[in-house]
Amino acid sequence: MQFFLDTANLEEIKEAVSWGVIGGLTTNPTLVAKEKGSFETLIRQICRLLGEEKPVSVEVLATTAAEMEKEARLLAEIAPNVVIKIPIGVEGLKTVYNLNRSAKKVPCNVTLVFSANQALLAARAGARYVSPFIGRLDDLGWDGVGLVRDMAAIFKIQALEAQIIAASIRHPLHVQEVALAGAQIATVPFNILKQMTQHPLTDLGVERFLTDWKQGRH
Ligand code: E4P
Repeated sequence: MQFFLDTANLEEIKEAVSWGVIGGLTTNPTLVAKEKGSFETLIRQICRLLGEEKPVSVEVLATTAAEMEKEARLLAEIAPNVVIKIPIGVEGLKTVYNLNRSAKKVPCNVTLVFSANQALLAARAGARYVSPFIGRLDDLGWDGVGLVRDMAAIFKIQALEAQIIAASIRHPLHVQEVALAGAQIATVPFNILKQMTQHPLTDLGVERFLTDWKQGRH
C-alpha cells in the first residue's frame, strides 16, 4: 500500500517527503482554506515539492458537469501531476467520463464515496482513483474499513482498474486496517503519519541502549 499525504501545508509536506515514504498527496477545499496565499501558487508549490511523478489531487468547486470540466481543465494546467478530485454524483460521473475519454485525458479521483455502489459507478466512469471516506462513516456508526474491504473485493471480481485511496483516516489503526482490507493507497494526515513512527517500547529501547553503552564504556 502506498502512502499519500492528506494536507495542503507546505511545512508538513517538506518534512514528510524527506522521510521517503510519500507517493502522492490529496488536498480538499477545507485543507486549502487553512493555508495562506494564492490557491494556484500553493498548488504549484505542492506539485513541485512532490515531484512530477507523484499525483496531487485538487478538488473542483463547481457543481455542474460543464463547469466542473472547465475548472478541471484549468487546474490540470497548473502542473503535470495534478489529478482532479470530483465528488461522486451524476454531474461528477459525467465529468469523469468526459475527462477520461477526451483526447486531452485528465486523471480523476472520485471523492466523498460512502457506498460500494458509488465506488462501482466511479470506477466504471473511468476514475483513476476512488476515495472512500472511512472516518466520516465510522463517526456515524457505520463501518468505514468494511467499505474498503467490499470495494477491494468488488474491483477484483469485476476486474476494475481504479485504485482505492482510503481517506478520512482518523488514527494509526485505520491505516493498518485499510492495508489489510486491500486499499492500494491510504491518504494520511501528517500527525497520524508521525504517530505511526512511534512506539513507547522503541523510545524505552533507545534510552536503555544509550544508558547501557555509557555505563559499560566508563
Ligand atoms: C481525502 O482525500 C480527504 O481530503 C480527507 O481524507 C478527508 O478527511 P476528513 O474526513 O478528516 O475531513
